[in-house]
Amino acid sequence: MAELEFLFRPRSVAVIGASHNPEKIGYKILNNILSGGYQGKVYPVNPKGGEILGLKVYRRITEVPGPVDLAVIAVPAQIVPDVLEECGQKGVKAVAIISSGFKEVGNILLEQRIVEIAQRYGMRVLGPNIFGIAYLPANLNATFGPSKVRRGNIALISQSGALGIALMGWTQTAGLGLSAVVSVGNKADISDEDLIRFFAEDPNTDVIVIYMEGVHNGRAFMDAVRSCPKPVVVIKAGRSKRGAMAASSHTGSLAGSDLVYDGVFKQIGVIRARNYRDAFVVARALADLPMPKGDRTVIITNGGGIGVLATDAAEAEGINLYSGEDLKDFKAVMPPFGSYKNPIDITGGATVEQYVQALRMAEDKDTVDSIALLYCETAVCDPEELAEAIKREYKGKKPLVVAMVGGEKSARAVELLNEAGIPAYDAPEDAMRALSALHLWQRYRKKRRQGGEELR
Ligand code: ACO
Repeated sequence: MAELEFLFRPRSVAVIGASHNPEKIGYKILNNILSGGYQGKVYPVNPKGGEILGLKVYRRITEVPGPVDLAVIAVPAQIVPDVLEECGQKGVKAVAIISSGFKEVGNILLEQRIVEIAQRYGMRVLGPNIFGIAYLPANLNATFGPSKVRRGNIALISQSGALGIALMGWTQTAGLGLSAVVSVGNKADISDEDLIRFFAEDPNTDVIVIYMEGVHNGRAFMDAVRSCPKPVVVIKAGRSKRGAMAASSHTGSLAGSDLVYDGVFKQIGVIRARNYRDAFVVARALADLPMPKGDRTVIITNGGGIGVLATDAAEAEGINLYSGEDLKDFKAVMPPFGSYKNPIDITGGATVEQYVQALRMAEDKDTVDSIALLYCETAVCDPEELAEAIKREYKGKKPLVVAMVGGEKSARAVELLNEAGIPAYDAPEDAMRALSALHLWQRYRKKRRQGGEELR
């Protein structure tokens, strides 16, 4: 995967089609690279010359004085082959082709031509038909998406441009941290499997989330996922017949039978997300939590209703709610009218201190493998104080997910926990879904280990 290093950690970047017009894509990309704090050399290229954003503009890439690792190409599709030839002559290592107007609109030959040119010069191609690439550890934001991206350990690969850009912004407000955002577009050369292999070895990435409409090479994708020691979460669009038709006209993907995808995903250990929101519900837990030792889960709650909803969700998600005799110990941390039967209901009058005691007990018990802590906002237990107490008390030895339901203060408390790396949600179903994904990933790991595969 050494060649992909040039895509993610280039020592220098040229923007070909860097525009003088601040409204144009070529300008936005250059602006994002500069405002993102990229430390390598940046070369705008445009036959008009002059200056853009304080940088000297080179009329062609061959005039750039130093070596160029990555060229981001934002010129109309018909010009791309000529530009690519010059990139090859210059010794560029990787190109990201933003331009649309290739296979997705039937210009198959034009797309084949750019692949052929790139291969001739040994260049790797991301795209075409993409919004770019961002790799946060290198302060590289070569996209025309949002200029600010929250840093974290989730890599996002998107076959959809607009959705990928939207998710860059959405993860920012949802408090989710990304290591990378990669738009794959038509996947003329660099594929999902190439990227999975790169992220499998990337020390800055712990979870890979893919929005996918179709796979070009099923066997290679399966091999890449199987050999990846990190969870791969896939949002596979085109589930329905009409959805598959829409995918075909969007990215030219053959969506294939959804049942086949579902079966293959289970076989190779992909965690399939129902939608993008669901993908990040599970990714948050997979990115932040330790693996459970077993599958025995307890729910701690101050509300009976929220506990029942969580129990329903647990059953639907296949979570094993622990029911051993030693649950009686929880009687010590609740009033006489509480219930120690899982869900452990410490009742509506529960204080921060009672939550803390219940959490400590659950963390200390060998019979408990993972914990869901639920909270309904009351006047006797301030949500932000509870969040601070959880942050202080949680030892991080077994998975803990939190759901807090209430007003603004609860929303802020959810943010506080997420910022501290404790997955928190505003609905009990999300918390249970997150735990179930963790247990599923644990089962996949076990299966692979039994198959003799190496895992972290
Ligand atoms: N080398 C370098 N620069 C050149 C060259 C060349 N050989 N030829 C022309 N240019 C310059 C132009 O002069 C222009 O600069 P200027 O504005 O200073 O004059 C700049 O390159 C851009 O060229 P334009 O002809 O103005 O093209 P425009 O910016 O309108 O569009 C683009 C180019 C963005 C690549 C367009 O063709 C395109 O494909 N847009 C779609 C992008 C897209 O949506 N990608 C898909 C995924 S994202 C999603 O779905 C949301």
